[in-house]
Amino acid sequence: MAPTPPSADQVKQAVSDLADRTQSSQAWSSIFRPGSIFRKGYTDSPRNRSYVIMNSVLYHLHPVKVKRHAVKVSYTLCLGGLSFFLFILLTVTGIFLMFFYRPTASAAYADMETLRSAVTFGLLVRNMHRWGAHLMVLSVFLHMARVFYHGAYKSPREFNWVIGVILLTLTLLLSFTGYLLPWDQLALWAVTVGTNMMGFTPVFGDQVRFVLLGGVEIGSDTLLRWYVLHVLMLPFVTVIMMAIHFWRVRKDGGISGPL
Ligand code: HEM
Repeated sequence: MAPTPPSADQVKQAVSDLADRTQSSQAWSSIFRPGSIFRKGYTDSPRNRSYVIMNSVLYHLHPVKVKRHAVKVSYTLCLGGLSFFLFILLTVTGIFLMFFYRPTASAAYADMETLRSAVTFGLLVRNMHRWGAHLMVLSVFLHMARVFYHGAYKSPREFNWVIGVILLTLTLLLSFTGYLLPWDQLALWAVTVGTNMMGFTPVFGDQVRFVLLGGVEIGSDTLLRWYVLHVLMLPFVTVIMMAIHFWRVRKDGGISGPL
């Protein structure tokens, strides 16, 4: 006699038992923290909705509650978010470029040319990096103007304004240090002019110029110095400053708004 197939109810019961056993296991509850919609017995309550935000690695970056005006695109124009997005884009495209670029006076320009002409997607990624850098300077500046227009530099956000000024300086420094890396005539003379200007710093101008150039004139040592600043030190400080900046937006009561 052929075995009788299980009824629809039996299949439903088996699936529900399996789901029950999985959700009761230690492995499951170690992944999904209390309040998660994937936990057994989740109910839609204001407390559980807050838990969903607080207990998720991705969501917890957002506040549990936001004021209505703060999520209106027309209020912030998302310029801070756009600046952050561009920073991420520049990091990803920059890492791609690092695979094909050597920071020495003899190799840098040739590597740049190879990137433009022979590397798959090289021209596209390089242009994304360059245009992204220009756009980031613009978006950070516009973000600062928006913040100023809304009076968000006033108490209790004055400290975050100062962090913002540091971020603007870092953005400009990232742009300037990146400018030297193609090692073409434009880069060479722009950096020569820039460092000569900085050499007019009162009292220790010569020392400032020496430190910036890694010698008495622009050369391979300057390239290495600016490369390390561009790919490591400045991005590292920027990431730390951004973390403080975002944390302060939360702690200062969210985005400023109409009284
Ligand atoms: C790398 C550069 C920067 C990034 C990624 C960044 C990111 C952000 C983000 C995401 C916000 C949330 C609101 C929004 O999107 O407008 C914000 C708010 C804020 N930012 Fe920036 N920012 C940067 C530079 C600056 C600069 C240059 C200043 C000013 C000198 C500044 C001052 C502020 C202030 C005061 C707030 C709070 C605004 C409010 O409460 O309305 N930020 N920033």
